[in-house]
Amino acid sequence: MIQPVILSGGSGTRLWPLSREQMPKQFLRLTSSQSLLQQTLSRLAGLTDAAPMLMGHHSHRFLMAEQLREMNQTATIVLEPEGRNTAPAIACAALLARLSGEDPLLLVLPADHAIGDVHAFQHSVSVAAPLAEAGYLVTFGVVPTQPETGYGYIACGEPLEGGHHLAAFIEKPNAQRAAALVESGDYLWNSGMFLLRASSYLDQLKRLQPTMLEACEEAVSAAHRDLDFLRLGEAAFNRCPADSIDYAVMEHCEHAAVVPLAAAWSDIGSFDALWATVEPDAEGNVSKGDAWLTDTQDSLVFAEHRLVATLGVQNLIVVETSDSVLVARRDQAQQVKQLVASLSKAG
Ligand code: GDD
Ligand code: MG
Repeated sequence: MIQPVILSGGSGTRLWPLSREQMPKQFLRLTSSQSLLQQTLSRLAGLTDAAPMLMGHHSHRFLMAEQLREMNQTATIVLEPEGRNTAPAIACAALLARLSGEDPLLLVLPADHAIGDVHAFQHSVSVAAPLAEAGYLVTFGVVPTQPETGYGYIACGEPLEGGHHLAAFIEKPNAQRAAALVESGDYLWNSGMFLLRASSYLDQLKRLQPTMLEACEEAVSAAHRDLDFLRLGEAAFNRCPADSIDYAVMEHCEHAAVVPLAAAWSDIGSFDALWATVEPDAEGNVSKGDAWLTDTQDSLVFAEHRLVATLGVQNLIVVETSDSVLVARRDQAQQVKQLVASLSKAG
């Protein structure tokens, strides 16, 4: 059985002013009537009948519940009292899945990615399933196009049926190293999605992160129902060391594999990436809301509350919301993160 585990606890700021602490990227309806979370859930149709487990921050519980209700989707919503990054969230999902005595394959999916080709995505998952059954922690590798420093890099080892042994995993290299990894042609990007048997992940955690595993075990045994939510035990979970699956497990894992993913995947890490995931109009523009574009090319213009008009500009990002407006050059969209950091420092 494939048990989907949706990671929905992040609080991305790179799409500010659309994304906020209380409204992170996964809940936004960027270019469709469905939010990224809803699209992630829709992408599972036909792949598995198991109700997904949604792992998220307790302050987003009503957003999660409401977005599920809109789609008539049942799911177990598991609430983390504080963000402890992805390794503990996946550990708690694995422990909860094991409670019933079963040992399902967990399909771990970030809630905030875009995938253009759902058929190709589902195909990669079915190719990965026998490898995960055999105990491999399976990653999905994407052919890199530029030296991204925000991704994990995977070196392919010996061939396996449907993929390769994972020979090395390097999470978020610096710019110089990322350039060398891409240049070598030997590395794939880690898409951030995983297929792993619950017990295989827990075994690796026991070996690599015993303190984290113990805290998660306590948090799961102290979990309690609250309305439709399952709240993890607060004291134990807050004691848990924070780390991502990439740093805590994948970089040290000896029994991992990679399956190729060619599904028009994007983690929409910036407005520029968002612009690139959508089919632009004849002038290369992507717009939403009340946007009036004249002699404007290769730009993204989002208007939430007011009319936004542009004239004689190219390669711009313009995002209007009720309280803030961002105007940026498209090639500087990556720096929005730093901009938000300096804005919050300035108070
Ligand atoms: N439940 C829960 N709890 N989810 C979380 C938490 C948490 O504390 N922190 C982050 N998440 C969710 C995010 O919402 C996102 O969907 C997913 O977990 C991944 O977290 P990110 O913070 O977005 O990771 P990243 O983008 O820096 O790096 C990961 O993804 C890259 C591809 O986009 C890594 O796996 C990289 O290796 C990978 O290349
Ligand atoms: Mg991400």
